[in-house]
Amino acid sequence: MRLSRPFATAVFALAIAFACVQPQRGPVQVDAPQTPQQQAAAPATALPNRPDSLKFAVLGDFGDGSRGQYEMAAEMARVHQRFPYELVVTVGDNIYGSERAQDLVRKFETPYKPLLDAGVKFYASLGNHDSPEQRLYKWFNMDGKRYYSFKPDKQNVRFFALESAYLEPDQVSWLQKELEGSREDWKIPYFHHPPYSSGGRHGSHAQHRQVLEPLFVKFNVSAVFTGHDHIYERIKPQQGIVYFVTGSGGKLRRGDLDRRSGLTAAGDATDQAFVVAEISGDELFFNAISRTGRVIDSGVITRRK
Ligand SMILES: [Fe+2]
Repeated sequence: MRLSRPFATAVFALAIAFACVQPQRGPVQVDAPQTPQQQAAAPATALPNRPDSLKFAVLGDFGDGSRGQYEMAAEMARVHQRFPYELVVTVGDNIYGSERAQDLVRKFETPYKPLLDAGVKFYASLGNHDSPEQRLYKWFNMDGKRYYSFKPDKQNVRFFALESAYLEPDQVSWLQKELEGSREDWKIPYFHHPPYSSGGRHGSHAQHRQVLEPLFVKFNVSAVFTGHDHIYERIKPQQGIVYFVTGSGGKLRRGDLDRRSGLTAAGDATDQAFVVAEISGDELFFNAISRTGRVIDSGVITRRK
């Protein structure tokens, strides 16, 4: 059947309109109420909160025992009550400074107690401030390894935790094999040093980009989570891949987002932030949420095939 041109155009416009409103239809808005002005400026995408989806959070650069960390942790617990994410992946700089048992209590176990008590599992990756001993810390679920991959029970997803402070050839060839052997629809790498970042302090890590990006492109990675710069940033898609910098989970470098990089799709360097996300089929919905419960970014990523 051939469609007349105006009719075909109308159908196409309807389809686009439907696609655009779809993410707004979820029953749960996992964020604080916004002022009408904020909503008009950047409509938040509701997370669908479906019973069979994989719900997770992303946290970086947090374990300094500061008030900012504790307040961000409290907001994470509040969000968890409405949106019960089952795991948190950490993008490094998990513990700053001393790592004695009492330090781990103050910088990790106490602030995240409500989440740990609720059975939320943290899967850590290591940053430049982290001792390799953290791979043995039971709450980090690293199974004694500096880098590893794991597949959650729900949805068809595999996460890859890298140790980007020591991205030696052995680790890169391990990653290549893991990505190659992965049959999961979603392959999500997470690590500390960002291949793309508009952080004034560190910025894009060119070497890591050179080594990792070709693998991510080849093996159909769609989303990558990193930290190190103490800001929140979502990078404009690079070769079809969305890179996040989520390095303000406790630390914050106020004003350090340099939008002149031209890389920024969305960003915030005014408050601590973490990310909640939900994978359902071919879609990954995300909200970046500040210490005070403000939604600073939201959207949906459709996976590459
Ligand atoms: Fe760092």
